Amino acid sequence: MKYKILASEGRAKRAHMETVHGSIETPVFMNVGTVAAIKGAVSTDDLKEIGTQVQLSNTYHLHVRPGDGKVSGDRLIHEFGGLHRFMHWDRPILTDSGGFQVFSLSGMRKIKEEGVTFRSHIDGRKIFMGPEESMQIQSNLGSTIAMAFDECPPSLAERSYIEQSVDRTTRWLKRCKAEMARLNALPDRVNPEQFLFGINQGGILEDVRIRHAREIGELDLDGYAVGGLAVGESAEEMYRILDAVVPELPREKPTYLMGVGTPQNILEAVERGVDFFDCVYPSRNGRHGHAYTNSGKINLFNKKYELDPRPIEEGCGCPACRSYSRAYIRHLLKAGEMLGMRLCVLHNLYFYNTMMQEIRDAIEKGEFRAYKERKIKGMEAKA
Ligand code: GUN
Ligand code: ZN
Repeated sequence: MKYKILASEGRAKRAHMETVHGSIETPVFMNVGTVAAIKGAVSTDDLKEIGTQVQLSNTYHLHVRPGDGKVSGDRLIHEFGGLHRFMHWDRPILTDSGGFQVFSLSGMRKIKEEGVTFRSHIDGRKIFMGPEESMQIQSNLGSTIAMAFDECPPSLAERSYIEQSVDRTTRWLKRCKAEMARLNALPDRVNPEQFLFGINQGGILEDVRIRHAREIGELDLDGYAVGGLAVGESAEEMYRILDAVVPELPREKPTYLMGVGTPQNILEAVERGVDFFDCVYPSRNGRHGHAYTNSGKINLFNKKYELDPRPIEEGCGCPACRSYSRAYIRHLLKAGEMLGMRLCVLHNLYFYNTMMQEIRDAIEKGEFRAYKERKIKGMEAKA
């Protein structure tokens, strides 16, 4: 694993990482394509144009599809030559382990030491997934970075449950590490140099978080994620947990905050030493006609944009702003035309990707703190 910190400002780090699928410049925002597709009819060519470095896909979703259920989706994709070839994306891909999706999608599930039994949200079929299965699926997909199989306990769970759950997640992590080493040594792997990131859990209990971070930090993984946040706790609680836990994770390894968040959340987390992010907000908001600007989020369904000849954001270099007015995009959205959503999604992902570039530049110049204050103040203004 080649991960090198190029510059720091306080805890904020600007790093460079080498992978078999090319390099990653951090801090980075990974664009979420759960079923190997960025929602909003966004192509891989689009992603290259808007500065996407890493795509994120999901173990669980690609296990249940493609295919008719007789052969798993990941086996089909393996037979095709791996996820990169399947979706025509030659840059890094991170796959989430399935644990979180199982907990968020499945009504019926049973957690045991071996793993989790649940029903497919597609056809109701019973599926078992444990650490070994998750690694096997991610190995079939051949993603650049695989995530460990974890449990994200409910935010309101009791201390005793969270402590037990975290200990099981540690045991699962050790099994993930052993299974990934075995798989990477097989002769038929799409990516025999697949990386594995561990995931820190512990709810909002600082002492459990810290103990868990120290335990997993000793396992010498390729990177470390903080999971189980942005699941209902306040932003202040999330920052408090990051303040406690990030200094306990190996600084010379990538630090990934899963599923976060707003531009403000990302700026606060970068300041606390996080350098990988992913979130559905920019694509989900785009599909609903909500567009990010440096002076706040705007709702393009709003009547005041009916004859607005300006682009979503003056000076933005995205495919939407280079060619189209707010008035036209509003019309497309109101008419239910797919192009309306697509343009908003492209703009929003470009906004996030560009903010990450600005963050990297600012850390290199030692101006991150000033940049962060300016950016947040701007976004709080009324558009
Ligand atoms: N995505 C957002 N939060 C989590 C988490 O806690 N675990 C996993 N595996 N994925 C996530
Ligand atoms: Zn734009």
